[in-house]
Amino acid sequence: MQTVLDYLARHRARFVRELMEYVGFPSVSAQTRHRADMRACAEWLARHCQSLGLAAHVHSTEGHPIVLARTPRRRGRRHFLVYGHYDVQPPEPLELWATPPFQATVRNGALYGRGASDNKGQHWAHLKAVEAYLRTGTELPCDLTFLLEGEEEVGSCSLSSFLRKNRRALRCDAVVVSDTGLPARDLPALTYALRGIAAFEITLHGPNRDLHSGIFGGSVHNPALALCQLLARVHDAKGRVAIPGFYKDVLPLTAGERRQLQRLPFSAAAYKKLLGVPALYGESGYSPNEQRMARPTFEINGLTSGYQGEGSKTIIPAWARAKVTMRLVPHQTPEKILRCVEAFFRRHCPRTVRMEFRRGHGCPAYRLDPGHPDARAALRALRRAFGREPVLLREGGSIPIVNEFKQVLGAETLLLGLALPDDNAHSPNEKFDLEIFARGQQLSVWLWQELARG
Ligand code: BES
Ligand code: MN
Repeated sequence: MQTVLDYLARHRARFVRELMEYVGFPSVSAQTRHRADMRACAEWLARHCQSLGLAAHVHSTEGHPIVLARTPRRRGRRHFLVYGHYDVQPPEPLELWATPPFQATVRNGALYGRGASDNKGQHWAHLKAVEAYLRTGTELPCDLTFLLEGEEEVGSCSLSSFLRKNRRALRCDAVVVSDTGLPARDLPALTYALRGIAAFEITLHGPNRDLHSGIFGGSVHNPALALCQLLARVHDAKGRVAIPGFYKDVLPLTAGERRQLQRLPFSAAAYKKLLGVPALYGESGYSPNEQRMARPTFEINGLTSGYQGEGSKTIIPAWARAKVTMRLVPHQTPEKILRCVEAFFRRHCPRTVRMEFRRGHGCPAYRLDPGHPDARAALRALRRAFGREPVLLREGGSIPIVNEFKQVLGAETLLLGLALPDDNAHSPNEKFDLEIFARGQQLSVWLWQELARG
């Protein structure tokens, strides 16, 4: 493997330049004005894969294109999918970026730009490892297919039907995904569980128009107040979700899981500082890592009502709305949870307002047995590349498509994240650590060796 690793070391600077060009595409899946940028990015990606000797195609969908790129096939070898996404979150608010989000910049050993970490840099590491095998004439010990989609940040709708239509071509032994995190630069991790998600919107309608709050105030229920009163019932004094049935299917954390989580380096003071909060808050009886990785939550993502413009405007708003997502743990299902939650709000909604409840996207949690032979192979590769004993992680984020890899392709997913906790995913000044970029390439080199053994 030394020639492959030497190749990676020799071409390190070029790989960074390529990643800068990749990050330069404003591939924002959520915004229709970037539709052409999405296609341009997908085509650039496919051409790049072709230049490395992969058979690459751009597949049009009803939404954004999907790029498939496969290494030359050899009979009888194991086959793995490498999944990633070239779409990125919207970069706004732009004024908070130190350098423009789509002009990648290197400083302090990191590459700054929207999508650098989530997720362009992470799958670029795998692509460069494969380049190193192919360009040095070293035999890849297994067949690989890169599956790079453009709708992860908006729910992976097109990929879901693409999987079903192409289940034969995509049949594989396992899926490898680098789209999660590691606790620190020198602490590699295999993520064996992700939380699921269930989204909804609740709107309370009050008077048929905004009213003068002096003339009418006191005689009608303000929908903004009614919504606050309702939302305030969701959590009890211990920070637990007080909705009946919410925890019904949740398994208690095992002693082993708690021990794994305790192995993670954690300082409450540093964590508070990183997030800029005056104090932490959460479900009592659980550590912050347990709260954010292994417990279900109810989060308000947006809260809107009335006048938020310049100066003041004395009204009773006609309506108030909250956008909510709940994070789910194994055995909870989005359908059941949404049913409990809707029933709770219907029961407690006062008769003074009219409630509208709209269900949104959802997926259950994902869990892989860390004793699975492929998981153990991945742990060996992590150990080799980072020179340290990897930790097993449960993570709080969600990657909806991994459940369908299991359902449709019958394949487990190995989550080998390369994002640091302070990479600013979804936030201004997103960055990707260049030392981890290089380690990620080495990890990928060893991974195919270890996985090929089966
Ligand atoms: N890469 C993240 C998911 C992630 C982040 C997993 C950190 C584990 C640790 C992914 O791009 C993402 O943001 N997913 C969304 C999914 C949602 C839109 C359905 C999420 O988790 O909010
Ligand atoms: Mn994301």
